[in-house]
Amino acid sequence: MALTVERLQQVMPRVVTALSDVARELDLRNDELLAALAFLGEVGRADETILLSDVLGLSRQVDDQTHLANAGTPSNVLGPFYRPGAPWIDNPGSIVGGGTPGSRITVSGHISDAISGAPVRDAIVDVWHANEDGVYSNEDAALDPWDLRGRQQVDMDGHYAFETVTPLHYTVKHDGPVGQLLAALGRHPWRPAHIHYLVTAEGYQPLVTQVYIAGGPYLEDDAISGVKGELVVAIADDRLPFDIALVALPRAAVKNAPA
Ligand code: BEZ
Ligand code: FE
Repeated sequence: MALTVERLQQVMPRVVTALSDVARELDLRNDELLAALAFLGEVGRADETILLSDVLGLSRQVDDQTHLANAGTPSNVLGPFYRPGAPWIDNPGSIVGGGTPGSRITVSGHISDAISGAPVRDAIVDVWHANEDGVYSNEDAALDPWDLRGRQQVDMDGHYAFETVTPLHYTVKHDGPVGQLLAALGRHPWRPAHIHYLVTAEGYQPLVTQVYIAGGPYLEDDAISGVKGELVVAIADDRLPFDIALVALPRAAVKNAPA
């Protein structure tokens, strides 16, 4: 749902009041305002508007509010590295291309209905993550563009399982205006190691989330404040267990739902 005119008329006066309060309380001067506006222009030209929202914690705040009423697995931002149309893999299967180095793990779990706990038998699990050097396959032309990415159909028990390599922590883009802002504020650009998920199923809200690997750095000070306690999971015996609970759509929203 986009911002409607009604919402815009509700939101903008509050934004203007908040900005005016900052300008008045901190006695902002003309040259400072112009510098701030020039910075926003640079952020736009560098295509870093979402990144700015991420590092300011605004994306996290809005994500929390959007999913507040859900009993399901907490959501997380999609991030800039998702590629639609990842290769289908068997279940169990592997998302590791030939020759990809790294310590092998098996990631697995059940996809279930958040209220009934019943398996969601037609769920599709789309996963992607950085490699053992903290690099995504669409960041480096030398890598297979589909490495460490895959889509999997769950089995009759709602179970999924895939082999992959342990991802490393990495930095968000910090060679542009957002990076300059982070540096000026004395903040680092690191994210803790994680695996991204997009889980879809007929009749359920799509879930975009991430599972974070316990024990690694930056879990406490993720550059985009994305870490949520329920999403932090330990690898034990080369296994990373991650169950997911999906929230059903209201019946009216389900295509061809019986009356
Ligand atoms: C990511 O997890 O891929 C990501 C999310 C937000 C900003 C940058 C990277
Ligand atoms: Fe990521």
